Amino acid sequence: MNILVTGSNGQLGNEMRVLSASHPRHTYFFTDVTETADTQVLDITDREAVSAFVGANKIDLIVNCAAYTNVDKAEDDEATAMKINAEALAVLGSQGVKVIHISTDYVFSGEEHVPCRETDKAAPRTAYGRTKYEGEKMLLAGCEEAVIIRTAWLYSSFGNNFVKTMIRLGREKEQLGVVFDQIGTPTYAADLAAAIFTVIESPVWHPGIYHFTNEGVCSWYDFTIAIHDLAGIRNCRVLPILSEEYQYKTPRPHYSVLDKSKFKKTFGVEIPHWYEALGRCVKSLSC
Ligand SMILES: NC(=O)c1ccc[n+]([C@@H]2O[C@H](COP(=O)([O-])OP(=O)(O)OC[C@H]3O[C@@H](n4cnc5c(N)ncnc54)[C@H](OP(=O)(O)O)[C@@H]3O)[C@@H](O)[C@H]2O)c1
Repeated sequence: MNILVTGSNGQLGNEMRVLSASHPRHTYFFTDVTETADTQVLDITDREAVSAFVGANKIDLIVNCAAYTNVDKAEDDEATAMKINAEALAVLGSQGVKVIHISTDYVFSGEEHVPCRETDKAAPRTAYGRTKYEGEKMLLAGCEEAVIIRTAWLYSSFGNNFVKTMIRLGREKEQLGVVFDQIGTPTYAADLAAAIFTVIESPVWHPGIYHFTNEGVCSWYDFTIAIHDLAGIRNCRVLPILSEEYQYKTPRPHYSVLDKSKFKKTFGVEIPHWYEALGRCVKSLSC
C-alpha cells in the first residue's frame, strides 16, 4: 500500500515513522504543515493540495496524525482548531481512500465513573473536544471505510509532553504539586503507533470507532511519582493537589478512562500496562 501519514512531525507521527521501518512492504509519505529533512509539506486543510498529493502518489490509505492539540489555545481560537480538527476531516474523508484518524477522550464529558465505550454519548466540554467530535462526524459522513481511534494522555520521546516536563521539573525543583483528582490512562505514542499498524495489517478491514490507551488507570500525581521513580529522580517531593488549586484555564475531565474491549476483541491483541510502557519511554530518553 501507499500510505500517507499527516502530522509526521508530532509525537504520534514520529512514532509512526520509527515503526514504519518494521513494515517495509508499504511505501510511506510522511508529511506535515512544516517541512523538515524527512517530511514533505502537506497542509490537511488545503483541499486542492491534499487531492493533488493523493492522486500523484496513488495513496491507498491516509493515517491522520495531524491535529490542533493545544487544549487551552483552542478556547481562544476555536475557528482555527475547527479548521484543522474538523473541516480538514471532510477533506481527508472525500479522497476515496481508507482513512485512519485519531480522536480523543475529550469528546466525552469526563463526568462518568466507569470506562467510556465507543457507543457512549459524546458530550464535549471544551473547544478542543468539540472540534475533535465534529471531525469524527465529518470523517464518518464522507468515508465509510474510516477507522477512528480515540486515545488519551499521549506522550512520547518526541515533542513536548507531560513526561518530559515532569522529568525537567523533577530535576529543577525540590517540591512539586500535581493533581490527584483527575483519573485517566497514560498512552505511549509508540504503542498507539503499533495499534495503528495492527489495524493496517489486519487481514480484514474493520471500519468504525475504537478506543485505545495503555492498560490501567492512574491520576496525574501517580503518573508523576512513576515518572520520577523510573527516571531515578529522588530529590523532588511530589505533593497531591486538587484541580481547583491548579487553576486550569480549560476544564479537565475528572474521569476519562476509555474501555478498550472492542479494539482488543476485534484485532485479537493485548495492550501493555501504562507503567511498563512508561518504563520503555523513559529508557529511550536515556534517563
Ligand atoms: N497529545 C495528547 O495528549 C492527545 C490525547 C488524546 C488524543 N490526541 C490526538 O492524537 C493525535 C496525535 O497527537 P500528537 O500528540 O501526536 O499531536 P502533536 O504532537 O501536536 O502533532 C500534531 C502535528 O500536526 C501538525 N499540524 C497542525 N496543523 C496541521 C495542518 N493543517 N496540516 C498538517 N499538519 C498539521 C502539527 O504541526 P504544528 O506543531 O506546527 O502545529 C504537529 O506536527 C491527534 O489527533 C490528537 O488530537 C492527543
